[in-house]
Amino acid sequence: MSGVSGITLHQGDITTDASVDAIVNAANESLLGGGGVDGAIHRAAGPELLEECRRLGGCRTGDAKVTGAGRLPVSHIIHTVGPIWRGGGAGERELLTSCYERSVEVAAQHDCARLAFPAVSCGVYGYPLDEGAEVAITTVAAAMQRYPTVVQARFWLFSEATYAAFARALEG
Ligand code: AR6
Repeated sequence: MSGVSGITLHQGDITTDASVDAIVNAANESLLGGGGVDGAIHRAAGPELLEECRRLGGCRTGDAKVTGAGRLPVSHIIHTVGPIWRGGGAGERELLTSCYERSVEVAAQHDCARLAFPAVSCGVYGYPLDEGAEVAITTVAAAMQRYPTVVQARFWLFSEATYAAFARALEG
């Protein structure tokens, strides 16, 4: 696929990716687990991850925090909290941009060169797929230029519709 250097798209379960240094989680402000990709990551990582998350004291929307990965065969989980979509006038785009920027920044600070991302906010938080995909691709591409030790971003898209939206965004 043409598009942006270092960014690839994959369909399926992000917890199956053992080729990265860090998996990014689409969490909520409590960092104490939930459904969707958050639930899948906590199930696969085991109770050790929840124990580490408890010590972080939550995370603001738009920010990202790092833990180990429990039983998952990667070194870190980067927990970011996307915005709940409220129609677009509540700073959602800026907050989602901040999620991806902070995730790449935190990855660089922890020597993670290869990252797996989900479509943050594009599930129960209701962010429109096309805009969510465009923000994801453009922000991660720019952040990888700013933090050149981060060389690979693998987006794991669960549904056909999400994959298609990311493919359109990647093609520009
Ligand atoms: N691998 C990759 N993508 C997945 C997986 C998986 N195993 N499971 C779901 N997705 P969501 P949000 C996709 O709802 O919108 C949680 O309860 C999913 O189809 O997981 O940021 C948290 O605790 C969608 O495209 O995250 C928060 O409370 C994308 O991942 C809240 O949901 C994100 O959907 C966060 O909502």
